[in-house]
Amino acid sequence: MPAVRDGVRGAVITGWGSALPPKVLTNKDLEGMFDTNDEWIVERTGIRERRVGGTTAGLSVESGRQAMEMAGIEPAAIDALILATTTPDRRVPATASTVQHELGLTCGAFDVNAACSGWVYGLVTAHGLIAMGAEKVLLIGTDTLARITDWDDRNTAVLFADGSGASVIEAVDGPGQLLGWDLDSDGSAERFLYAEIDGFLMMEGREVFRRAVRIMVDSATKSLAHAGVKAEDIALVVPHQANIRIISAAMDRLGLPMERASVVLDRTGNTSSASIPLALNEALEQGRVSDGDLVLFVGFGAGMSAASAVVRWSTDVDEHQP
Ligand code: ACO
Repeated sequence: MPAVRDGVRGAVITGWGSALPPKVLTNKDLEGMFDTNDEWIVERTGIRERRVGGTTAGLSVESGRQAMEMAGIEPAAIDALILATTTPDRRVPATASTVQHELGLTCGAFDVNAACSGWVYGLVTAHGLIAMGAEKVLLIGTDTLARITDWDDRNTAVLFADGSGASVIEAVDGPGQLLGWDLDSDGSAERFLYAEIDGFLMMEGREVFRRAVRIMVDSATKSLAHAGVKAEDIALVVPHQANIRIISAAMDRLGLPMERASVVLDRTGNTSSASIPLALNEALEQGRVSDGDLVLFVGFGAGMSAASAVVRWSTDVDEHQP
């Protein structure tokens, strides 16, 4: 099972950045587009407004640049760019190639599509690259779901939106942040949430909801076990931002109070690959995470994918030197 092995070179997140398109779409705006109302959307999803617009490359460049500036590193120092996205700008090449060029990077660049679990998949992949010798990895989670949402379909249009979150991950000589991780997929459930090439997102909401809670809790439980920690030791849960009721049910089953979850979906909607880094970044900006705290990331999405990771937070690279 994927516990982090002793002796593997570790890594820490040293910089982060967020990007949201300027255009705000409120629930009131949606009332004018199809048969819905603010009260229903808030009660059933927790979402009040969302941001729409921009391209996956454009938002990624914005969040990626912020993360590199915060980490204080030059583009040439990045050894790999991982872009988690379900909505590439073009079929070919990978949108990561466009972002690599626009950020002035000189490294390899590739997209990861694991739907809303994408950033956690990318986090684990970044640690794998670092274990094999990479020093610095730029991980960006970006989605522009508005482009593949049918704005006449109230089942999906109230949920999906656009955004980007980026993280610089740097190698350290000590054990690093990552204590345990889990990546899952159940392709037999792909029919409940999909978009054909050039098609809109199609979803059986109730079925996705039912499975989402179960697979989030299953994945989180595996990561906690691999990390050798208990749920109550977790200071902050950073869950995928799909629906406040899904987050609340998952927190409940993990035996954790809602105050320990980072929630941004009321203002962002479901931004898929961007949702976990956006929620992490806000918690960091609000000073909700201190060095030494245990943080649990947990996502689920189309596929159906699920992914989680437990980290012991620390931003001080030097602290980890032997
Ligand atoms: N506005 C008003 N009424 C609505 C709306 C709407 N936007 N949508 C549905 N309704 C109505 C339905 O027609 C139904 O009416 P009826 O009782 O007269 O038949 C009633 O509200 C209840 O419908 P449900 O589908 O049972 O509503 P539910 O409580 O399940 O909420 C929702 C629907 C919000 C979609 C929920 O099922 C959900 O969040 N599912 C998970 C979705 C999700 O997380 N997707 C993203 C996965 S991540 C990724 O990979 C992108």
